Amino acid sequence: MRWDPEQYLRFADHRGRPFHDLLARVAALAPDTVVDLGCGPGNLTVELADRWPQARVQGIDNSPQMIDKVRAGARSGVRFTRADLVEWAPDEPVDVLVSNATLQWVPGHLQLLDRLVSMLRSGGWLAFQVPGNFGEPSHTELAAVCAAPRRRQPLGDAPIATGTVHQPATYLARLAGLGLTVDAWETTYLHVLPGRDAVLEWMRGLRCDGCCRGCRARMRRSWRPSTASGYAVPSPGRSTVRCCRSEGSSRLPGSGGGD
Ligand SMILES: C[S@@+](CC[C@H](N)C(=O)[O-])C[C@H]1O[C@@H](n2cnc3c(N)ncnc32)[C@H](O)[C@@H]1O
Repeated sequence: MRWDPEQYLRFADHRGRPFHDLLARVAALAPDTVVDLGCGPGNLTVELADRWPQARVQGIDNSPQMIDKVRAGARSGVRFTRADLVEWAPDEPVDVLVSNATLQWVPGHLQLLDRLVSMLRSGGWLAFQVPGNFGEPSHTELAAVCAAPRRRQPLGDAPIATGTVHQPATYLARLAGLGLTVDAWETTYLHVLPGRDAVLEWMRGLRCDGCCRGCRARMRRSWRPSTASGYAVPSPGRSTVRCCRSEGSSRLPGSGGGD
């Protein structure tokens, strides 16, 4: 999968909203180690360092485009590593593990949660958010375009149609079964953005430069606000991007974890 960090960051405010809602439910006061799994362009990782200035903060991402962007704006006290989170292991037990809008791209991530929990220190926190948008017109149309013969080259072999997201209750059961105290919820965000093509611009955070002009025109038509597209018309010249997100913060028993 290929990302366009600049395009992705155009909507940083809206994309960061669920991250802030998630972090509001993490009560660690003074963690030593904080890791952001799938840190993307790193702007939210830096916010973790702002919240916990005494912590060693690390961002992990496997996208060369994202890590290049991160390193360009790197700041002291935050370490960024290019790695696949499925294989990555921390040097020391982690107090706070965060993952925002990433695990949906990781096949078998429900099982991976067991391994992530095993990385936590006693009393440690695991907080993540996954967008459940694979049935939305944004993703179904992109999947159809990807499958169309006119497409010139793979869209970074993105498994657009096949990402997996579970119900909040499934995450809750898995984590509770591992002994964590869990707070899970689901929120649908209606991001009202300028322009009639905001859904297309939002989706272009995933690089669509392999698409032919016809494909782009098709997506533009399908995603403009209208009753037919299913995207609400908030006001003239504006569009709505609809994102349903499962979120949860969970904590291992015990003292530690930045109490
Ligand atoms: C939608 S972006 C979210 C970025 C950031 N967390 C945010 O909220 O702005 C998803 C990120 O997950 C990364 N990612 C996806 N699968 C990954 C994996 N297996 N290992 C590491 N990073 C991964 C992508 O490269 C991308 O930067």
